[in-house]
Amino acid sequence: MRNRAILAAALLTVMMTACGSSEQPEVVEQIVVRDRDEPAPTATSDPAVEDAGAVDLIAMGEDAFQMCTACHVVDAGARSTAGPNLHGVLGRVIGDLDGYSYSDALTASDAVWDEENLDQFLADPSGYLPGTDMLAGAVRDDEARAAIIAYLASKPTAFDE
Ligand code: HEC
Repeated sequence: MRNRAILAAALLTVMMTACGSSEQPEVVEQIVVRDRDEPAPTATSDPAVEDAGAVDLIAMGEDAFQMCTACHVVDAGARSTAGPNLHGVLGRVIGDLDGYSYSDALTASDAVWDEENLDQFLADPSGYLPGTDMLAGAVRDDEARAAIIAYLASKPTAFDE
């Protein structure tokens, strides 16, 4: 117990020293939290992404995607949860992941997910595909949608190595 307390105190001192002078404490905190939650820094290791702006967008999307993780996973081959696994969803036929039981609304569609229709779907899932089982998870904010789509688009190259 006491050792832990000492360690905690030492850590706190280090953190305070690190944050104390010129750097913004909130910014440092955000980066630490994101790194700890996502062990694989996949976005930046994607050679197709050369533009630093695109990397920022993907990182933003990774954060924004937290509102989807209650129902979706994105890891290649991972078992679908409440919603289908979204790994490689861009370029996939709508409602076509093997082993997932979709609503008729998604099964009936032969379209392929691209940035445009995914944007429309995420803005208003049942407006775009009436009868969908995705009853939550609409993203009203344009920028957050763009970021989430960029993040999802980064997934095939990040995981299919
Ligand atoms: C409350 C659970 C829930 C949340 C939150 C949610 N979804 Fe879904 N999502 C679903 C379900 C269920 C389906 C299957 C819909 C159907 O069959 O009609 C689905 C389907 C999808 C599909 C179609 C996939 C395919 O294989 O055709 C995409 C894309 C999608 N969701 C993206 C997202 C994104 C991005 C978010 C976060 C912004 C999100 N969802 C949040 C439950 C959810």
